[in-house]
Amino acid sequence: MSYIEFDASLMVGNRLIDQEHEVLISYINLLQKAIENEASGNIIEKVLSGLVEYTKTHFFVEEEMMLAYGYSEYDIHKKAHEGFKKTAVDLLGKFERGEDINLDEVHEFLKDWLINHILKLDIALAGFLKGKEL
Ligand SMILES: [Fe+2]
Ligand SMILES: [Fe+2]
Repeated sequence: MSYIEFDASLMVGNRLIDQEHEVLISYINLLQKAIENEASGNIIEKVLSGLVEYTKTHFFVEEEMMLAYGYSEYDIHKKAHEGFKKTAVDLLGKFERGEDINLDEVHEFLKDWLINHILKLDIALAGFLKGKEL
């Protein structure tokens, strides 16, 4: 496993979206660090729930921008957000209930999904927003 570097390759070109993605990536790296350090369940839970909460806020911000500017890909993008949110909330719930989950796999899933989403749907959204914001 390697830490994610938030560099130009992950930037979509919208200042607010990029700032929020940087925070999300920090959470993913923090989760990795906690796993590597065999941190207590309490700490892992805090990182996971922080990630879930920030993800919800971030998705909401993107969705509001899509609605404000009448983005034609809103439905498909929103659906992708909803799917991820549900999976992340389910994983957090399983962890909180003490169910057996593989944290390395959880980390890989979150990381792969986010990077893939940023590089596909969020880049497209940022392109659409270009020149539209104040
Ligand atoms: Fe998105
Ligand atoms: Fe995003």
